Amino acid sequence: MKDILNVNLKNAGAFISDEEIFALAQQSLRHLDSLNSGTGAGSDFLGWLSLPDDIIPQIDRIEKIAKHLRSVSDTTVVIGIGGSYLGARAAIEALSHSFAPILKSKHHTVLYAGQNICEDYLADLMEVLDSRNYSIIVISKSGTTTEPAIAFRILKDHLERKVGKAVAADRIIAVTDKSKGALRSLAELNGYETFVIPDNVGGRYSFLTPVGLLPVAVNGHDIKEIVKGAKAMQAVTRSNKTASSNPALLYAAARNLLLQSGRSVEILVSFTPRLHYLAEWWKQLFGESEGKEGKGIFPASVEYTTDLHSLGQYIQEGQRIIFETMLSVRSQEKRITIPKETEDQDQLNFLAGKRLSEVNRSAETGTVLAHTDGGVPVITLEIPELNEFYFGQIIYFFEIACALSGYILDVNPFDQPGVEAYKNNMFALLNKPGYEEAAKKLKARLK
Ligand code: PA5
Repeated sequence: MKDILNVNLKNAGAFISDEEIFALAQQSLRHLDSLNSGTGAGSDFLGWLSLPDDIIPQIDRIEKIAKHLRSVSDTTVVIGIGGSYLGARAAIEALSHSFAPILKSKHHTVLYAGQNICEDYLADLMEVLDSRNYSIIVISKSGTTTEPAIAFRILKDHLERKVGKAVAADRIIAVTDKSKGALRSLAELNGYETFVIPDNVGGRYSFLTPVGLLPVAVNGHDIKEIVKGAKAMQAVTRSNKTASSNPALLYAAARNLLLQSGRSVEILVSFTPRLHYLAEWWKQLFGESEGKEGKGIFPASVEYTTDLHSLGQYIQEGQRIIFETMLSVRSQEKRITIPKETEDQDQLNFLAGKRLSEVNRSAETGTVLAHTDGGVPVITLEIPELNEFYFGQIIYFFEIACALSGYILDVNPFDQPGVEAYKNNMFALLNKPGYEEAAKKLKARLK
């Protein structure tokens, strides 16, 4: 069997003991049992637990549609927000060339819309699309979310004017609920190919459905390997034999103990820019799952060494409310060696002959030592390399750890009641029919 990601708790050891972590992990086996038996809070939304198996029958069709989009277009715009966007972008950025969108090559370009309502962003995107041969994947579980719905209305119109209604219909794929929502009706009316998001899978847990896998396949990545990775992680995290060898239980227990010790902010750290969107996905997963009833760890993220020159000062010496979870990628795909110069004018000859990854690793080790000395516990997630197999592991690992952590905190990790508040205000302010009373009240407050 290939390696499994390792949760290294050594650098949290000065703050929480192994005994405490193992004891809480052991007690939390009951939460794993609740997940496995479907008896905990939010049990209507546990479909993600078995996705590594359940998605297999759909893989061929996902790959077939992806191949079709690649053959008829050079660019795909993925429209979606939150759980219907972040996982796909996280995977594509983690697994692609760092400059993929501007690399002149055979690569299919993936661009994004519907994750904001910024006029300049969409206008800029359409300017690019004017000269592209593009397709659209529109993703919305509810089929009614405002941001992607507006972006889809505008881009559908753009594409139809560019290639005609019939060709546009062949290049638009909708991923949505099996029967509900405006997107489902639109898809049926226009004859789009569709994929279904299962009822029992919530947005932020939906990466291993066509929500995540279709855009990733269009971008040319091996989705079978992603699913294999998720399955390997499923095997070690759903087993309730020993808490001490279950990485998700250990991580969930450690972060809750750190919260109990006053660390209410968790920063996800990486030394690899390609992981930027993984951190965005992770922040949604934990923020939306745990932040309720006045509880939860605030999820933040940084990229080092970049942010050591900005937020580094605060992390080292500011309020002691922070712990870090470090994504440590153990090997790099490419190789750069620092050259030697005859005149050591920049005084860097002491690095000559070293690989850049060796320098980055020293920065990582130096940071861990400095931060732990400064009172910041560090949990390290060791990732052997950044490929599809380990990406699948990372997704499943964080999903199950988040569910367990939510149960330890005694919240329902599968709902998001707080997300409605801004939407109601926005609809009222835009005079949406049905929001007249709310509009009156809000407008009085704004006088
Ligand atoms: O996790 C969630 O449920 C949310 O972030 C949703 O994914 C997000 O609001 C988008 O919703 P929808 O897919 O219904 O458009």
